[in-house]
Amino acid sequence: MANELVVELPDNDKVLDAQTVKQDFPIFKEVGQDPFVYLDSAASAQRPSKVLEAMDSYYHTTHANVHRGVYRVAEQATNLYEEARSHLGRFLGAPKPELEIVFTKNATEAFNLFAHGYGRKILGPNDVVLLTKMEHHANIVPWMILREQIGFEIRFIDIDAEGQLVLDNIEQQLKGVKILGVTMASNVLGTLNPIKQLTEYAHQEGAIVIADGAQYSPHLPTNLQVLGVDAYCITGHKMLGPTGIGALWARTSILEEMYPFLGGGEMIRNVTTEGFTTNDIPHKFEAGTPPIAEAVGLSAALTYLEEIGLENIRAHELSLTSYAMEQLHERLGSEIKIFGPENPSARSGVISFELKDVHPHDVSQILDQEGVCVRAGHHCAKPLMTSLNVPATARASFYLYNTESDVDSLVSALVKTVEFFR
Ligand SMILES: Cc1ncc(COP(=O)(O)O)c(C=O)c1O
Repeated sequence: MANELVVELPDNDKVLDAQTVKQDFPIFKEVGQDPFVYLDSAASAQRPSKVLEAMDSYYHTTHANVHRGVYRVAEQATNLYEEARSHLGRFLGAPKPELEIVFTKNATEAFNLFAHGYGRKILGPNDVVLLTKMEHHANIVPWMILREQIGFEIRFIDIDAEGQLVLDNIEQQLKGVKILGVTMASNVLGTLNPIKQLTEYAHQEGAIVIADGAQYSPHLPTNLQVLGVDAYCITGHKMLGPTGIGALWARTSILEEMYPFLGGGEMIRNVTTEGFTTNDIPHKFEAGTPPIAEAVGLSAALTYLEEIGLENIRAHELSLTSYAMEQLHERLGSEIKIFGPENPSARSGVISFELKDVHPHDVSQILDQEGVCVRAGHHCAKPLMTSLNVPATARASFYLYNTESDVDSLVSALVKTVEFFR
């Protein structure tokens, strides 16, 4: 299946200068570790001063609860919170930015909200939810919990030896499917999936599509209207924002239909001893005091990403990934196995690998002694680990502040690791 998610890359001279970008991130000066080669942004990115300052300034000058007070500071706080919502909507290319973004704690909560709010509404015991074997647990376990209560079937799209989805018989696989859940970019393999085409197939079968943008929207330009999906999840801390905030985007018609998930203050219009009526969307899904400072921080992160340009970020990461794959193959030869597509253009800036006869946790520990931070483990993608026939992998992931020198440190540390174990 053709993948149309190809980004127009800028000319070379416009691509960002990572060494300069790095200066904007205080942790690289203040962490108290030298060297500090941070290659774990797929787990959580670092944040630029502008994000920290925006949150600090909010707490210093504007904090009050939102949607309640009629005094000025409370109104200002409400405005900042609602502007952050619209900003995220615009960033993702949502048709109705101010209505269709529901803030959650993270992407995991966004998937749970969708499964329990919408899945519960439309799924019956004879229905099918189709997922892929490269999904993060956040887009698997909520469906399994719901299946225990409702009894529908969950199927998985396989992956091939290159870490691509097996889509030859996609029409067959979609038969009877009510919901398709699929990641835009695998957090382990880096594979960029052909979501636009998959969505077209799914819609022909009458299925609703929820896409996982957690590893995509921080790195490539997102346009929900072009993708055509029906729902989408992101998480703030992977896109330079603070922890504690994520979002579900869904079409207005879906949000209108969805059950509320959490009950309490804010999400109601009226409550009596007999029952309650719900607030309008999106507030119907935001029970209790929301993550206000986090929304302010996320908005500052989006501004920062927009100023640099997602096309530039993609071009930079693509060049780093190509360089890293080249160097890893050249310097480690048969000692290393890299999972996922061989062609860097078909993947995001994530490289999972295995060193021959060395456990990924040992790899990660030895790299740490060299100041290189990579993740080791199952990456919350156990069905994928089973498909790859490994218990775990080590994973290096790149972002806009990583440089070729970071890649060199990784490769040299891996060479040392191999020597250490021989
Ligand atoms: C692809 C993908 N989806 C969802 C998540 C869940 O994000 P969070 O832990 O912020 O909810 C992650 C986190 O690693 C991820 O990589």
